[in-house]
Amino acid sequence: MVLPYWVLYAFLACIAAIAYFLYASFAFGAGYQPAPRSVVTRMLADAAVGPDDLLFDLGAGTGAIIFRAAREFGASAVGVEVDPLRVLILRFRRWVGGPRDRVRIQWGNLYGSDFRTASVVAVFLWPEAMERLRPLLEAQLRPGTRVVSHWHPVKGWEPTSVDAATRVYLYRWPEARRGASRGI
Ligand SMILES: C[S@@+](CC[C@H](N)C(=O)[O-])C[C@H]1O[C@@H](n2cnc3c(N)ncnc32)[C@H](O)[C@@H]1O
Repeated sequence: MVLPYWVLYAFLACIAAIAYFLYASFAFGAGYQPAPRSVVTRMLADAAVGPDDLLFDLGAGTGAIIFRAAREFGASAVGVEVDPLRVLILRFRRWVGGPRDRVRIQWGNLYGSDFRTASVVAVFLWPEAMERLRPLLEAQLRPGTRVVSHWHPVKGWEPTSVDAATRVYLYRWPEARRGASRGI
């Protein structure tokens, strides 16, 4: 049996889409891995996220953090994501489950993003990406903003708390900067 060409093209397109979904964002700083539910709970609880907060997830993936922050903690949330397929998923989730008035999705490179309005910044990125992010955080964070990171710390910053079980690091800006002077 000879398959029509369009079946082959459709198959190749699916493979390419899956490969892109899994690997493309490596080039930007971190591959895709959703933070587990228990970790997200710890991140949002440690950062004391609430209805007065505007949380940015820099590298939002498929929304494990932003939708919980908005739905269960009452916050407003912005997800910045570079991968267009994940952005489609994020927009679909927002459209289907909302809350549309409190969740925004930004398609783009987090290193070009403006998060000066954030009261909480959440990240789950690789070490090199974290190092590149630090000067941007220091340039944009307002006093009182919390930064919560899963798995990798912000090198040179002093955490307010560390949960060893879930590898969640919480920082408060500008207090976190004290670590730099002590060579942390
Ligand atoms: C480890 S996943 C974390 C996803 C989500 N924050 C979570 O905790 O479930 C990292 C995400 O960051 C995205 N990412 C990597 N580099 C990025 C960049 N420069 N700009 C925007 N997003 C980026 C990846 O596409 C991926 O979805």
